[in-house]
Amino acid sequence: MIPSAAKALVLPDYQLDHMAAVRSLRLEERPVPTPGPGQVLVRVEAAACNPSDIIFLTGNYATPKELPTAPGWEGAGTVVAAGPGLFGGFLRGRRVAFGSLETADGSWGEYCLTEAARCIPLSKDVSTEQAADLIVNPMSVMGMYGEARRGGHRAAISTAAASQLGRMMVALSKREGYPIIHTVRRPEQAELLYSLGAEHVLDSSTPNFEEDLAAKARELGATIAFDAIAGESPAQLLAAMPPRSKVLVYGVLAGVREMPMDLGSVLSNASGVEGFYLVHWMEQAGPLRLLLDARKVQRLFADGTFKTQIARRVSLNDAVDGIEAYINDMTAGKTLICP
Ligand SMILES: NC(=O)c1ccc[n+]([C@@H]2O[C@H](COP(=O)([O-])OP(=O)(O)OC[C@H]3O[C@@H](n4cnc5c(N)ncnc54)[C@H](OP(=O)(O)O)[C@@H]3O)[C@@H](O)[C@H]2O)c1
Repeated sequence: MIPSAAKALVLPDYQLDHMAAVRSLRLEERPVPTPGPGQVLVRVEAAACNPSDIIFLTGNYATPKELPTAPGWEGAGTVVAAGPGLFGGFLRGRRVAFGSLETADGSWGEYCLTEAARCIPLSKDVSTEQAADLIVNPMSVMGMYGEARRGGHRAAISTAAASQLGRMMVALSKREGYPIIHTVRRPEQAELLYSLGAEHVLDSSTPNFEEDLAAKARELGATIAFDAIAGESPAQLLAAMPPRSKVLVYGVLAGVREMPMDLGSVLSNASGVEGFYLVHWMEQAGPLRLLLDARKVQRLFADGTFKTQIARRVSLNDAVDGIEAYINDMTAGKTLICP
């Protein structure tokens, strides 16, 4: 039976200090909504905690929501109710990975209302835990990697590559024999990536990093970079690559939104910096591309090529401590919120 109210972690106000925002999260009873046309209600079994969720808490995310609300952009669970609509009806009773709505509570609660179209029915070979992080990172990997391949780039650079997304790039590069230069900021992260089978890893804390990056980019013919750092990173990447190269900025891990850039050199090199935002990419990609990529992602999880490292599992009661622990050591892996 579906209760009329259920527990969720609620953000009362945005706070620029992300740790203060995490500590302000409260466990509350929220009304459980009834799905309308095209919508489904998911009983959440595992919810991810990603950098986009942390930025959301500060009010700086691309898609802010009306507060108070439960954060959490994705999760996995079972569809327990569906409004009118064929696909929703098909999903009832099935395990799904889902993306949450901008207009309703997110995945950090016992139940989550979303659109049937934002759900991916899960194959039996993909665990619910792994499915909790099946959309945001893996589908972004598909989008950016696909752009590199379809754009005819012979090789790519991937920054902050010890992230879970970066590790999926490592796995895909190895599986498909596509050269990617993975950059990290600490020697232990370089060792980690080598242990996962990465071939080309550069550590930005080494003295010759910029020269080494340029030499490697020349050697492999890297003309596209996937950048999760921002700040000074896009200019550094363009300087390392030949003319007519481009940087896809998809994260702001440096916490700096301004981008120092010599536009004269951008102009004379005909190079470019573009943003990559999964939501827009999914809109542009169209249903067929998304279906094919979602199926490929599930196959990659099922055969172990893709995996999200889970550092800890926490209940809603312990979620604040778990999210803080994640922020304090992101490379160690994700905190999974299991309501
Ligand atoms: N645009 C989109 O649509 C989209 C979609 C999905 C993901 N993303 C972005 O993808 C990035 C990775 O996400 P994730 O979930 O895979 O991350 P994650 O697993 O939580 O790991 C974050 C990694 O980034 C490293 N890092 C943090 N700040 C850094 C900095 N200033 N310079 C270099 N490395 C830094 C961390 O290393 P330490 O342990 O050294 O801190 C850690 O290895 C995030 O920026 C996220 O917002 C964007």
